[in-house]
Amino acid sequence: MGQGREVTASYKVVVVGMGKRGVHHAKAFAGNPRFELAGISSRNRQRLDAAAPKFPGAKAGTDARALAEEVRPDVFCFCTPPDVRLPLVNVGIESGARLIAFEKPVALTSTEGMAIGRAIEAAGVKAVVSHQHRYGEHYRKVHEIVSSGAIGRVHSVYGTATGWAAHMLSHLVDYTSWFNGYEPAEWVMGQAAGRGKLTDVHASPDYVAGVVHFRNGVRGIYECGAGAPDVPEVQAWWRKCRIGAQGTDGYAEVHTGAGWRAVTRDGVHSGPGGMDYDHDMPPYVQHMADWLDDDERPHPASFARAYQGFEIVSALYRSAVEGGQIALPLAGGSDEIEGLKRKVPERKAFLTLAESTNEYKD
Ligand SMILES: NC(=O)c1ccc[n+]([C@@H]2O[C@H](COP(=O)([O-])OP(=O)(O)OC[C@H]3O[C@@H](n4cnc5c(N)ncnc54)[C@H](O)[C@@H]3O)[C@@H](O)[C@H]2O)c1
Repeated sequence: MGQGREVTASYKVVVVGMGKRGVHHAKAFAGNPRFELAGISSRNRQRLDAAAPKFPGAKAGTDARALAEEVRPDVFCFCTPPDVRLPLVNVGIESGARLIAFEKPVALTSTEGMAIGRAIEAAGVKAVVSHQHRYGEHYRKVHEIVSSGAIGRVHSVYGTATGWAAHMLSHLVDYTSWFNGYEPAEWVMGQAAGRGKLTDVHASPDYVAGVVHFRNGVRGIYECGAGAPDVPEVQAWWRKCRIGAQGTDGYAEVHTGAGWRAVTRDGVHSGPGGMDYDHDMPPYVQHMADWLDDDERPHPASFARAYQGFEIVSALYRSAVEGGQIALPLAGGSDEIEGLKRKVPERKAFLTLAESTNEYKD
């Protein structure tokens, strides 16, 4: 235990945003005796009224700031669309919370992401970003194989997803960074196609692809969106993600919707696993209690780790806007989405999968 150890019976939590992910979070906190779900909020009254009966002990209010000021939570959690970030980080800090938990992506622009980083650092508050797929048994198995050395020295990591970037890319970058020991990236180069999702609330190019050079020489290769390759092992469209590592003696990879596969020095292996919120959320929130109890037990999905991935995603976009290799860490903030709106050609992105026409209509 570290010097910062301080164990209390339970930590008070406010959850803001009562959509799909807000309800997942509220359920996980309510189901863990280390937390007291003290408040829930959504600016959408209907969603709040629909959720409130599930959480009878929690105060409910449409004004997140007023609720947080009244409850004074230990954990301020928000699960809002990606265009609502910095103002709620500030509400959490000003409410006196010791830990702020929020959904990926960190932000849509590097200007906002950097402001969030500065606010969190200045306040000295702990922060966690929901890259919770890592708790899946298939993700943990691949990490275990890669870190055991069974595929030899890792030289490449890779991630592909059919879903578009503001939904999926930070997941791909975070788990591949995990497989690579969260080594920092030194430069990034990317390209983008398709404008349809640039005006979506999850604002993204329809297709982005690029390479990342990590400090330890490992190469990262990413493709996300309309033109990304199929993952035929997986049926569910949103779960067609292939996330893995190659080494001198083999490879190991996750298929988000359907297990894992590896070739190691010892042969060919595979096993089960499928992304499952009910499975992944309980350990994700338990690790928040562990970190609040003990400064020496940082959360595996800490903001610092998510921020590394956020910079990589921002740099991929910036490369598509400016051309060439983009050095990390980024020197200053920019509005990459506005840049992409100026730069990405009018041509529609080519789709890899016929079924993707359901999602990439424009
Ligand atoms: N980690 C994951 O596996 C995962 C999966 C799905 C979605 N997400 C992310 O979770 C976030 C939320 O997604 P969702 O599917 O739950 O969205 P959603 O649209 O279902 O819900 C969003 C909620 O936020 C509320 N809201 C919006 N603006 C608000 C504000 N200013 N103040 C208070 N409440 C506000 C809305 O009323 C709604 O209740 C997104 O960033 C998304 O990318 C993560």
